[in-house]
Amino acid sequence: MVNRVDGKKLTMVMASRNRGKIKELETLLREISPDIEVLGLGDIGYEGDIEENGETFEENAFIKASVPAGMGYIGIADDSGLCVDALGGAPGIYSARYSGGDAEANNDKLLLFMDPVPDDRRQARFVSVICVVFPDGRPDIMVRGECEGMITRERRGSGGFGYDPLFYYPPLGATFGELPAEEKNKISHRANAMKKLAEEIKKII
Ligand code: IMP
Repeated sequence: MVNRVDGKKLTMVMASRNRGKIKELETLLREISPDIEVLGLGDIGYEGDIEENGETFEENAFIKASVPAGMGYIGIADDSGLCVDALGGAPGIYSARYSGGDAEANNDKLLLFMDPVPDDRRQARFVSVICVVFPDGRPDIMVRGECEGMITRERRGSGGFGYDPLFYYPPLGATFGELPAEEKNKISHRANAMKKLAEEIKKII
């Protein structure tokens, strides 16, 4: 059994300041148990910046989740990105900072680097890793969700964020940028990782 921090609520702390992400995780976990609450770094008074200097999504998620765990909380963190086969897995863990600029600049760089790559060699996958670290030395939880697609030759759609307009998802015949959020959220790498996380959390509560 996981310890109830205050006797009733099972509190987990997500190593993030993104309210949307924290709420999304809490909503999912509350389907398993209404007693679960998810706080963010700001809620536990952590002001620092976490250096994500791992070499894999798993290492970075672990580094981040270890921060709340080191403060005595059940720590949880995710790390995600786009891996393109023809680019040897790039941008991978560097997805957010691929070009040194914003998402538009990242997409421009990806289109440029993919320009010489023929249509049948444009496979890519979004990856989402979620890690839970316990403060008392219980084994970590590490789950990975993926979503397979192809890189387009131009932006399509204005929805989503990041690389969504360049990520074509064959089963639905659309890029993530063209899909309504609720469609993307059913099949995305993050949704797949969340499902696996829910299964793991069920085992321990
Ligand atoms: P983070 O780990 O959630 O901060 O994501 C890292 C980066 O990966 C983001 O800044 C995006 O560039 C990219 N990324 C992750 N998930 C998605 C997605 O669902 N759509 C588009 N880009 C994504």
